[in-house]
Amino acid sequence: MKLTVDGQAALAQPGQTIAAVLHTMGRGRLFCGIGVCFDCVVTVNGVSDVRACQRVAADGDDIRTVS
Ligand code: FES
Repeated sequence: MKLTVDGQAALAQPGQTIAAVLHTMGRGRLFCGIGVCFDCVVTVNGVSDVRACQRVAADGDDIRTVS
């Protein structure tokens, strides 16, 4: 699947979380990894405060790590 992170093209495997995608790019923040700490929040397709560790990446997602 193809998506963008802060305007940069990225690839994701089916079922991969946004946090995992960011990790492979050396980006993003991740603390608990289980949806508790909100350290990983990003904006996805214009929706803010999405927990990257809880959201599976989808084809065409526009992910913003900075607001
Ligand atoms: S890393 Fe803690 S909520 Fe995502």
